[in-house]
Amino acid sequence: MTDERSFVAHLRRRATSVVVASSGGMPEVLWWGHDLGDGEIDLAQFERPVPGGGLDHDPPFAIVAEAARGWAGRPGLEGSRPDGSAGQPVFGLTNCEVGEHHVDAALVDLHAALELTLGIALDEHGVLRVDVSVSNTGDSDYRLDALRVGIPVGDHAAEVLTFGGRHNNEFGIHRSSWGRQTVTVENRRGRPAHERAPSMIVGSPGFGEEQGDVWAVHLAWSGDVDIAADGVTDGRRVVQVGELLRSGELTLGPRECFEGPTVLAAFSSFGLSGISDAFHGHIRARKAHPKFPRPVHLNTWEAVYFDHDVDRLRALADRAAEVGVERFVLDDGWFGSRRDDTSGLGDWVVSSDVWPDGLDPIVDHVRSLGMGFGLWFEPEMVNLDSDLYRQHPDWVLGDARYEQPLGRHQLVLDLGRSDVRDHLFEQIDALLTRYDIGYVKWDHNRDLVQAASGGGSGVHLQTLGVYELIDRIRAAHPDVEIETCASGGGRADLGILARTDRVWTSDTMDAIDRIAIQRGFSVLFPPELMGSHIGAPIAHTTLRRHRHGFRAAAAMFGSFGIEWDLLRLDDDGLSTVARLVDLHKRNRELLHTGRTRRIDHPDPSLVAQGVISVDRCKALFAVFAIASSHSHHRGALRLPGLDPGQRYRVRLVGDIDEPLGWARWQPSWVADGVEATGRQLERAGLRLPVLHPESALLIEVVTVP
Ligand code: GLA
Repeated sequence: MTDERSFVAHLRRRATSVVVASSGGMPEVLWWGHDLGDGEIDLAQFERPVPGGGLDHDPPFAIVAEAARGWAGRPGLEGSRPDGSAGQPVFGLTNCEVGEHHVDAALVDLHAALELTLGIALDEHGVLRVDVSVSNTGDSDYRLDALRVGIPVGDHAAEVLTFGGRHNNEFGIHRSSWGRQTVTVENRRGRPAHERAPSMIVGSPGFGEEQGDVWAVHLAWSGDVDIAADGVTDGRRVVQVGELLRSGELTLGPRECFEGPTVLAAFSSFGLSGISDAFHGHIRARKAHPKFPRPVHLNTWEAVYFDHDVDRLRALADRAAEVGVERFVLDDGWFGSRRDDTSGLGDWVVSSDVWPDGLDPIVDHVRSLGMGFGLWFEPEMVNLDSDLYRQHPDWVLGDARYEQPLGRHQLVLDLGRSDVRDHLFEQIDALLTRYDIGYVKWDHNRDLVQAASGGGSGVHLQTLGVYELIDRIRAAHPDVEIETCASGGGRADLGILARTDRVWTSDTMDAIDRIAIQRGFSVLFPPELMGSHIGAPIAHTTLRRHRHGFRAAAAMFGSFGIEWDLLRLDDDGLSTVARLVDLHKRNRELLHTGRTRRIDHPDPSLVAQGVISVDRCKALFAVFAIASSHSHHRGALRLPGLDPGQRYRVRLVGDIDEPLGWARWQPSWVADGVEATGRQLERAGLRLPVLHPESALLIEVVTVP
């Protein structure tokens, strides 16, 4: 770092500019949006008037906003010492390093005895990363209540989009206008919950998949989250992002430091597609991004639930291998007294009742069939009826003086404690060492309640404890992949994904619900991270019935798998499933490396999407008729994102064998294909055939040589 006391930095990448400046105090983002091009930045361009009726200066909206300098919205740093001091600090810049694409800064408030570090970097995909830490340099404790990163967005941002839903219906896209109010994503469940994913997007009026200025923020953190879009405080439109700390949760002793979770953000001038490009690119560039090709799974949960029978599971493995499955995952029910969900959780020892010869009979069988083997765990939890709870009732997270509410008959273990983590590591490590296990499904099926009260660890320490445990397991077993699951998609964020390889997106396999869930998921996360399985013809969660082709088309674009009792299928059914697995395998390289395009379509009964290879030589699009339409003619299907000057051959993929709706005449391209340029396909698109409700089309596009 250099000993600079002021700076102006202009970071530019991927059509995005970020201007950060400091005149000796806390740095401020003055611009985040369209590329401003070459040419020196004159700060006068960003000066605002000082109207009457307020302070005699324009209060800065610093990256860590300072109340003591007049910012009247949420402060960036909240906390205090036992005597009430240090509540409204003012930081001075002590050091900074300004590079082409990054700024690092060190700041201090000598009166409050606090130091702060700030790291800002714009990566090659246009993703802005902001890291902040605060240290207590005083002699007394400093109780930390909040540390938030603040960034202004465009004055014309007038709509807000959040993601959420419920168990079995995660990642729904919710939009509302954003006027003169504060919109929040505030999550207090101790995990990024089903109803409020830790992300927020704001944009210009009517922004869509391919149009509009859009700003996205995400907190890479698997605990409680606090995101706010503030359109009220002083005419600026700003977003603030941080970890949500509960009352009294975190106290920094002298010389202790708190590192806030990383904030990731992206700007796009062409709608949500640009946000996906940026986030997918950023995620795929991570060193620990899972390796390709993603294996096709069979997960036993909906096939057998807790009914573990060695012979039946071996027969299921035979069927799985027959249809082309590459990894067999044994779900809940293999350990301790876990014959249903009331008992056994926490006892990570193979059940001698259902597996008298250990797991060898299934692991060896699966391996001999050429498949990998995966195993389910829920390490953070314990049933009251378990050996672990009987031996260590004090290991539970919560306040022993109060009754602790149960969730799915279980309690949470205090992973802030190293003895608890050591115990879990030993049990999991023993199994991963003993058996040839290549995959762990890591579940988390209840909220954290009473965390931090009565002296136990809070959500913050619990989350760090989980991270440490997973990191330790990964270090000891680097080839074992891990799937993050929390009753489906209740823990999907780039904190947990820094140490896991796949998200179990939802517990529902209902194709209609999945199409919406996966669309929301795909905005920030690339398809290879999205566990998407084809379930039984009648979905267990909704009792809706869908054909094999429709269910497979819905699952096709993710990390594909099967969660269904294949022993119920006849030979015809099996060969259909084998064909669908093969279809996925033939396309997975494209699907898992290409650019995702969700398509805006005027008819709400249609959902359309595609993935285009990076070289734009081929693409796979899907159209789902999720309901009946008011018209047989649903409007043209535009195929965006191809090379405008390139000529392509377009054809329906027959393998999914989906029936078309009844018509005297369907467009000839449906049977014979069609040739057109990328520009023609993007602008005029294709006229869709008449479609039945709850049916799908897959459309393949390849360049004409
Ligand atoms: C959770 C998961 C399911 C399954 C069950 C097992 O609900 O989300 O996929 O693993 O637990 O109990």
